[in-house]
Amino acid sequence: MRFIHLLHLILLTMKTPGKSTLSLLVFILFIGYAMLAGCTNGKASGLAGNAQDVRENYLNYCAGCHGENLEKFDKSDWMYGDNDQAAFNSIKFGREDIGMPGFEATFTDKEIRALAEYVRSAVPEETVSGGASLAAERVVKSKKQNFIIDTVVTGLDVPWGMEFLPGGDMLIAERAGILYRFSNGRKTVVTGLPTILAKGQGGLLDLRLHPEYEKNGWLYFSYSQPSKDDPREGCTAVMRARLSGNMLVDQEVIFDGTPDSNKGQHWGCKLQFDMEGYLWFGIGDRGNRDENPQSLENHAGKIHRIHDDGSIPEDNPFLDTPGAMPSIYSYGHRNPQGTTMHPETGEIWESEHGPRGGDELNLIEKGKNYGWPVISYGINYNGTKFTDITHKEGMEQPVVYWDPSIAPCGMTFVDSDRYPGWKNNILIGSLRFKYLERVALDRNEVTDQEKLLEGIGRVRNVEMSPDGFIYVAMETPGFIVKLLPVN
Ligand code: HEC
Repeated sequence: MRFIHLLHLILLTMKTPGKSTLSLLVFILFIGYAMLAGCTNGKASGLAGNAQDVRENYLNYCAGCHGENLEKFDKSDWMYGDNDQAAFNSIKFGREDIGMPGFEATFTDKEIRALAEYVRSAVPEETVSGGASLAAERVVKSKKQNFIIDTVVTGLDVPWGMEFLPGGDMLIAERAGILYRFSNGRKTVVTGLPTILAKGQGGLLDLRLHPEYEKNGWLYFSYSQPSKDDPREGCTAVMRARLSGNMLVDQEVIFDGTPDSNKGQHWGCKLQFDMEGYLWFGIGDRGNRDENPQSLENHAGKIHRIHDDGSIPEDNPFLDTPGAMPSIYSYGHRNPQGTTMHPETGEIWESEHGPRGGDELNLIEKGKNYGWPVISYGINYNGTKFTDITHKEGMEQPVVYWDPSIAPCGMTFVDSDRYPGWKNNILIGSLRFKYLERVALDRNEVTDQEKLLEGIGRVRNVEMSPDGFIYVAMETPGFIVKLLPVN
């Protein structure tokens, strides 16, 4: 490889007309350098170079499944034999039946041999995951994409928010009002949260890093904020703060929702930054179906769009409407629990926890009325009806509605290339039926729907990590799994 580069460079240099003296000089320098490198590179340092390449190959191609420190291998149990040749065969040809991909097309035999030796010598004596070897898991087959379920975090209750810090640590928001930092298999409590009203469906909700987190350090979270007059009442608020070790500092409330209510339901509230840096989130009707969602004079039952510091964008749709809340982007929503952005179009999509038989997936458009509770596909949970109509002039139709209700919560687009069969599909958790719904779209038309992870538990949230893996959080009991693609 290096030799070919060298030849290529020399040829290029020599081709340049009128510069033959320079060419010759460069040629001599190159030969000199090559010889010098050859002489001084004794065997030991040559090996060191290789070791680095091997580690790099391992990190790029294997660590996503086997762990950065090889902790997902089990040293006491080599499934295909306790020798380098067996490892070589596993890597070269794969073990298709159990989800180990083959790397014949990726690496030379020499590179594979180096990887086999590396893997066999570098596996830790005891794995931190306590035997959570990949072998324990099975490949799950689905319509378009096979995968392995890898349990990453356990011992949680209701993990609402999940976010990934640049170094690889995960932040987890528990609804009860606890923020964890999960690092190397351990959870540490982050202090400095505001007073949180953990009541009914409320509590500490979502987490989101600023798109330029590495520059400014802002972490955003949505939560149920108690009223100053009566701490049993509250509405949804958004705070931003910075992390200093395991402590939040520089706290600023950038959005303070109205009206306060003593009801425990329908707070929203997933946070999403779009490509232009606007912050989007939805707030539910706070249990006042007949007043809030169709009135522009409060924040409940709306999708909001604000700047990262809480200020109002100049082109929000209701700035000229007397009495209207300026952050409103769309209205007539019941309980928007999922807010996510299409990775290519930049559009904001919302999943809405509806009444019985009326959960919705909506594409959010400026100033539009999504109709709650005037139009709906659902009925009250007690079986009584509140409306006979599903359509009305001036009110938007959902892209998808679910009857029976699935109770959707977090959702995300699959924006990475690791799951080719699911690229740009939406994944939505179902709390009620305990599965993950996959929706494939062609613009606003649904082209495919599928149930994944059936029976896994009440799916509270689903997020993409910055390195392109799908993480799914379940509640009561709370745990987080990673889906490892098997292609
Ligand atoms: C998509 C996930 C995935 C990727 C990527 C992956 N592996 Fe595997 N690998 C598996 C699974 C699953 C098994 C079988 C079960 C087990 O070992 O726990 C396995 C098995 C192996 C085995 C055999 C282990 C034994 O017990 O005999 C070796 C060796 C291995 N992998 C090395 C590698 C190397 C080296 C790479 C990177 C070049 C790699 N794997 C990439 C999932 C993966």
